[in-house]
Parts: sequence; C-alpha cells; structure tokens
Amino acid sequence: MKLGARSINSGQGGSLSKHERIAHSKITRKFKSAGQQLLFSQGKRGEVSDANGVTYTDFVMGYGPVILGHSDDQFSEILSRYLVNGVMMPGYTTFHQEYLERLLGDRPKDRGAYFKTASEAVTAAFRLAAMRTGRLGVVRSGYIGWHDAQIANSLKWHEPLHSPLREKLRYTDAMRGIGETEPAANWVDLRLESLAELLDRHKGLLGCFVFDAYLASFTTPEVLRQAVAMCREAGLLTVFDETKTGGRISPLGYDHDNRLGSDLIVIGKALANGAPLSLLVGDAELLAQAERARLSGTFSKEMIAVYAALATRDILEKPVGDSPDGWAEIGRIGTQVASVFTAAAQDAGVGSLVGARPVLGGGMFELVYHDDTLLGDKERREALLAALTGAGILLLEGHPSFVSLAHRDTDWADLHDRARQAFEEWNTSAGAGRG
Ligand SMILES: Cc1ncc(COP(=O)(O)O)c(C=O)c1O
Repeated sequence: MKLGARSINSGQGGSLSKHERIAHSKITRKFKSAGQQLLFSQGKRGEVSDANGVTYTDFVMGYGPVILGHSDDQFSEILSRYLVNGVMMPGYTTFHQEYLERLLGDRPKDRGAYFKTASEAVTAAFRLAAMRTGRLGVVRSGYIGWHDAQIANSLKWHEPLHSPLREKLRYTDAMRGIGETEPAANWVDLRLESLAELLDRHKGLLGCFVFDAYLASFTTPEVLRQAVAMCREAGLLTVFDETKTGGRISPLGYDHDNRLGSDLIVIGKALANGAPLSLLVGDAELLAQAERARLSGTFSKEMIAVYAALATRDILEKPVGDSPDGWAEIGRIGTQVASVFTAAAQDAGVGSLVGARPVLGGGMFELVYHDDTLLGDKERREALLAALTGAGILLLEGHPSFVSLAHRDTDWADLHDRARQAFEEWNTSAGAGRG
C-alpha cells in the first residue's frame, strides 16, 4: 500500500500522521512537495520515488554514501553472495582484514579502526588525541559530526567564506565536552594567521586539529600543508576528515592524494554504497592505543557493511567507459552535471545570479550564488530548492550535492530542460532578481 501524508486515524483527538512518528532533524526535513514532506519508498540507479509514486533525479544520494547508485544489480548480487557467511562473529573477520588490505595497500604502516558512523570515528580520534597529548581541547574546521564536542558552537560550515550566513554560531545549548579547559575552537576563515592566533590563545589546552576535506575546495594544498605543520608544531594530533571525500573523489581522499601527511584520516559515507561504515586510519603505533582507549562497540564488527564495501570496491576498481576506474568516471559525471545546471541557469536568464561548480574533481558539485544579496537570502535560496524539487530534481543547497556511477545513464537534455524550467519558475514566482 502506498503511504501518503494522511492521518493513520482521521478521527479527532490529535492522532499522529504517519510522518510524525519519525523524529526528524532539520536535514531530514529538507524535501517537500505542495508543503508536505516527502516520504521515500524506492530508489533505482540515479532516481528515487516518493510514497505517492513521483520519481525524482536524486543528487542527494543519502547525503553522499550511495556511490554506485540505488539498488545496483551487480552490487546486490555480490552482497547477497557474501551473506551466507553470517553477519556478525565474536570478533573481527577475514572480511574486515581483506578490506583493509585492499584499502590501505599504498600505506603499509597504517591500520584502520572500524565504526558505523564518522561521528564515532571522529570521537575516537578526539580520544586518541587526548590520550597522547593530555589535552582535551580541539580546533575544528568544517562539519565533523553531530556528537557534542563536534557540533557545539559551530558554524554553517558549507557556506562560502564570504557568505553572511557562515559565521552564525549554532548548537549553543545543552552540549557537553566543551568549556574553558576543553575549548572547541573554530578555524573559520582558513587563514594561517587566524590559525596561529587560535593556537596561541588556547595554548596548552588543544590536543587535536580536525579538518573537513570538503573545505579544501576553499583553499590550496599548500595552505593546508602549512596548517598541519603548525598544529603539529603546537603539539596537536592532526586529523583529516575525509568523510565526504574518501571513497568518492578517490579511494582514500584529499590528504592521501596531496600527501599532506596528517596523523589520522577519517573516511566514511561513500565506502559501502549506503551501508554504514566508517574508518579511522593512522599508523600502527598510534592505532595500537585503540585497545586502551576502548574504541569499539557492538556493531563495530558487523559484517554487512564490510561485504558492501568489498562489493563497492570490486565495481569501482574496474574501468568504466573511457575512465580508468569508477572514481574517475564519477568525477567526470559530476563535472557534467554542474555544467548542465550552469547552462540551464543561463538559458533561463538567471546566469548572473546562480550556477553550479564541480567540487574537488567533480565527485560532488554545488550551487554557486554570484549575487551577494541572494547569497545572504535564505528564503530565496530555499525557494530555488523547492522549484527544483517541483521539476523532479533533488539536490542540496548550502551543501555540496552528490553524484553516483549510475548517473552516467542521465538523459542530459531532459535534465537541462527540467532545470531550466525550475530556474524560470523560481525567477518569476520567488522574484529571483529582487534585491
Ligand atoms: C566531514 C564530515 N565529518 C563527519 C560527518 C559525520 O558523519 P556521520 O553522519 O556518519 O556521523 C559528516 C557527515 O556529513 C561529514 O561530512
């Protein structure tokens, strides 16, 4: 039976609609049609359908994990073959071992600790840092998870550096693990002078530097190399958080590809085509502390996600079309998607206001606002998202969007037409050019 937004019990007495049973956070509430929140029922390749049977081109891809596409036949077939081995053993398995061998083949000195979510892996990095340095404070740059010390007093990190919306402090209530003796300092503007100032202001209190690799698209490898060196010099453990980028822009992500040499990297999201898997990777001597730090929980040794990660790698390692491997092909696809949106905005007459750009090689892309008034106007930006949803396109706004290998089947002319219609609709109904 298809579920709509109607009430389970339409009688009086304030019964809940089916949607209302789910406790949402803001990000799970993003997509609406005719004022009603979308409830999804199925995904196939680069598309998802909602409970009313409406199909959308999906550039959210579960916020990044779905790297091959929804219900990919080859992935499902490999995954189901693995399942005969069971899903959880008393400890880690040959499958966990095999996956790390394949992932870390180029990094012979490294080990990996298994988690389900990147928030867990970052919390683990914080603990290792505190054990090594005796200091609980952290310097953060970017969204690094939802646990208290990761998110408390943080910013709208995905906004461009000059956006008026970027610096508004958020999540200021009811958070533990931050305070005078354990500061969670934000490196906001990515200037080395500001980082030096933070390291000096909180001298002796900071044990860990964590950087969201997505923000590398706002600066250069050289600045980041110097940032890592400055933090090391000040005695901090350095962590490159490749949750969005690892397994997406390349097998291991930005730090590895640019040889930045951070002490630890966190990878997550795109490793297992939607199955929950995250890893903390670093040299054996540091990861040997995992035992003393008790870095695991019941589900850390769960096997379905590892099977899914092995299947995902089997597929991505092979050439696709003219690309040498799946990661390169995904970069090509995202670059094409961005150029379609830019062309559609131009054809709709709003090219001076908005366009799109590939991020870090094209595994992700994002909308860019060329007009500062529009950049600071959340309402008009959200109206654009709604117009795109109305044209059957789901993407993220104020956040990078994600492509998958399955998007290589996209009918580009059709995507262009629907995007152009959305930009035109937005331009007339939301007054895109008002300012
Ligand atoms: C850079 C980064 N770090 C950490 C996280 C948290 O990951 P999770 O939602 O798996 O806990 C995210 C999630 O979006 C992220 O983008």
